[in-house]
Amino acid sequence: MSMPSQPVNHTPVDVRPRRMQFPYANVEQRAFFDNNVLKSAYIAALSATFPAGEAEFIHSVRLHQKQVTDPEMQRQIRGFIGQEAHHSKQHRDFNKVLTTLGFDALGVEKVFEKDLAKSLRGRDARTRLAFTVGFEHQTAILAHEFLTNPNILRGMDDTIASLLRWHAVEEIEHKSVAFDLYMSCVGDRKLLWRTQKLATALFSARTAKYMMLLLWWSKTIPSWRDIRGYYQFMFGKEGLVRRLRGPYGEYFRTDFHPWQHDNRDLVTQWKEKEYQAQYDVAEAG
Ligand SMILES: [Fe+2]
Ligand SMILES: [Fe+2]
Repeated sequence: MSMPSQPVNHTPVDVRPRRMQFPYANVEQRAFFDNNVLKSAYIAALSATFPAGEAEFIHSVRLHQKQVTDPEMQRQIRGFIGQEAHHSKQHRDFNKVLTTLGFDALGVEKVFEKDLAKSLRGRDARTRLAFTVGFEHQTAILAHEFLTNPNILRGMDDTIASLLRWHAVEEIEHKSVAFDLYMSCVGDRKLLWRTQKLATALFSARTAKYMMLLLWWSKTIPSWRDIRGYYQFMFGKEGLVRRLRGPYGEYFRTDFHPWQHDNRDLVTQWKEKEYQAQYDVAEAG
């Protein structure tokens, strides 16, 4: 076992799961995002990977949990596991609704489980944790984008938008838990960079494949409007690829830490504007 290569940098917020309930029955059509089948299929494909993907995040963290002696870090790890488990459950519920509406997200879940098992075959515990750290960075920067760019979720069904904003907030809250665990148990930055490049290539290819499956199975042919809208959303001047390129690249700096970019204010804003208002809850503790 390698020794810690740098001190653990703790999360500045409390990481704990929230029990949410979303009115999925209100979702009426599979083109729930801007009435655009491609943009909807993209979100559906992501959602279909969450149950098994987040289960793997949890598993890869658990493989290292015994090495952690710091009680504060143990507490964060338990919070991380609770949050990811609850995300999986909520996305499973959403995937069921999508399947009923004609996008077979449950079918994609099964395909993804097989794809994931294939890529995990023969990987050791440190590499699995490195993949988790990489995906946590990707979800954290996507989460930041969802919460800060007012245009990005425009036209999305309200229930699904609030599901994504809640998920985004918790991804920001726990964005350094896997990273800190990795740095204290493994610490090899080169492995982080290698796995991130592979993860990015694999995940882009797979997302495209799952979108194709959703369209193919439902015999959906995108219109020009769908294609134009999706292209702008993904590759346009204000699209995800261009806006996320910078934050994505920060991962490859030798001194990168997720909380160098302090966006705790987004969590606070969501709690005030959406969580406490809509769910009428006061956070305990
Ligand atoms: Fe999550
Ligand atoms: Fe996460």
